[in-house]
Amino acid sequence: MNDNSKKICVAITGTGSYAPEKVLTNADLEKFVDTTDEWITSRTGIKERHVVDKESNEATSDMAYHASLKAVEAAGISAEDIDLIICGTTSPDYYFPSSACLLQQKLGAVNAFCMDLAAACSGFIFSLDAALQYLNGGRYKTALVIGADTITNFVNWEDRTTCVLFGDGAGAVILQAQEERGIVDSVLGSDGRVHDLLMIQSGGSKFPSSAESLSNGDQKIKMSGKDVFKHAVTNMSAASLEVLEHAGWSKDEIDWVIPHQANLRIISAIQQRLELADDQMIINVDRYGNTSAASIGLAMDEAVRDGRIKKGDKVLLVAFGAGFTWGALALEWSY
Ligand code: ACO
Repeated sequence: MNDNSKKICVAITGTGSYAPEKVLTNADLEKFVDTTDEWITSRTGIKERHVVDKESNEATSDMAYHASLKAVEAAGISAEDIDLIICGTTSPDYYFPSSACLLQQKLGAVNAFCMDLAAACSGFIFSLDAALQYLNGGRYKTALVIGADTITNFVNWEDRTTCVLFGDGAGAVILQAQEERGIVDSVLGSDGRVHDLLMIQSGGSKFPSSAESLSNGDQKIKMSGKDVFKHAVTNMSAASLEVLEHAGWSKDEIDWVIPHQANLRIISAIQQRLELADDQMIINVDRYGNTSAASIGLAMDEAVRDGRIKKGDKVLLVAFGAGFTWGALALEWSY
């Protein structure tokens, strides 16, 4: 048989995740902001979230490092085997250099080229898709893709409409070209016309940091929650259906959906539109909150390590975030 006839897929061959040790429960939040466990749980499904240790300056590349070490080990490779590192993040350690370069140094991944990719909560799927294109091009063999965000550093802890939602963390995967199973298809989208519905206004080149921006809280997240909710449900559902069509899968062929973990009500609305059972949705928003670009990788790693996701399973990833950005990716689990 001619080996060229074998289909080559780009597949996830190892996963890892990390969340900071410090846990902030809804009861903790009740002590310093006008909210209740009942409100947060009923509106979002969130019970607690992990937050970075500010005293030790734990940053995005530190969390990405812990997650990446586990992914490298799970894939049975060494750091020198990595050809490229893409870190999906909108809370990098510095404006430059990229957190991906800092991560490269920590890992000793001396043969990799490295970059960050900013697509907010869609950053993990956008980064997976970008790495997929590099690997499909044939020049590179092994990619490390991370979604990592230290989003609580950008939360206004006096704004109860946003501060209860977010947590910190990192999820990482190794992507490699291999035969048989892997990524089947992906769909990405953006709509910059409504960029002002979810943003951090100051600290960039448009409105550099100033005493005024600091005192107004303009360097923290501002969000129109109801609008974000509607756009998230509409675009995540549409992207899911579109990628299923591209992949040639029917809804009832899906084994698992790993949605961006923003809010249990958004996840339930997508579940209903895809007509899936409760136990097909991978959910951990109750324990981590919204960890932005980290959320899908974190949930994926948990579900792989506890044995829910198995070889041959059909898995749908779907995300939505600031920009707005959204994406869905269909893959057959390879190990
Ligand atoms: N505790 C108690 N009360 C609160 C809180 C709080 N933490 N936050 C808001 N409220 C109050 C409001 O002030 C309002 O009071 P009022 O009626 O007296 O004015 C009331 O609760 C209802 O507020 P709404 O904003 O209408 O509440 P809603 O049902 O829309 O829920 C929420 C708000 C949870 C933010 C929802 O809109 C949502 O989930 N949106 C999606 C946002 C999101 O997930 N963003 C993450 C980034 S993007 C992404 O990851 C997809």
